[in-house]
Amino acid sequence: MGKGIIVAAKDYIYNLFKNNSDGHDANHSIRVYQNAYRIAEGYPDINLTVVSLASLLHDVDDHKLFHTENNENARTFMKSHQVESDTIEFVCEVINGVSFSKNKSNPPKSVEGKIVQDADRLDAIGAIGIARAFAFGGKNGRSLEDSLQHFDDKLLLLKDEMNTEEARIIAEIRHDYMMGFLDEIHKEMDS
Ligand code: ADP
Ligand code: NI
Repeated sequence: MGKGIIVAAKDYIYNLFKNNSDGHDANHSIRVYQNAYRIAEGYPDINLTVVSLASLLHDVDDHKLFHTENNENARTFMKSHQVESDTIEFVCEVINGVSFSKNKSNPPKSVEGKIVQDADRLDAIGAIGIARAFAFGGKNGRSLEDSLQHFDDKLLLLKDEMNTEEARIIAEIRHDYMMGFLDEIHKEMDS
């Protein structure tokens, strides 16, 4: 399996997430893919095809957006591109582990799963995380104050929940950036 499937997966998500502006756009998935690739450099023995496809396809059956069961969109896409059934199962397991963890359950078992989960979490913090939080808040009719609450509730906790050392290092930098931003916005709001 070569690069063709990756190009096809990118095309697929650009089409699927067209008109979506709540932080679940295709560019989010592309960033997750890039983050995952960067983390994966430290793990020569992993299945990079699984990491790539799971990153790109991790939101295509998100229940907030689609009414699919059993990773139907992801499976249909991969089957139509002749991805082997073992790979399809592995990709779906990784995808399901990414959102499963939101319920504070066990971390993903596979290294591939840990990497994609970290990659998704990295896109929720730092400058991009700030932008996404306010985009989400705006789209859902929330005040700036409500969106700021999300930092305490979730975003500031993420740096300590990374599975991999590579992601922890990136997360520390992004976390510090958010702390600086929060410090400044609270000052400006209170003045
Ligand atoms: P993902 O599916 O990419 O893991 P979510 O669906 O949980 O992420 O959220 C999408 C984006 O919206 C994230 O950047 C997240 O921080 C942000 N977000 C989710 N809930 C809230 C909220 N209550 N207030 C502000 N931002 C939120
Ligand atoms: Ni995501």
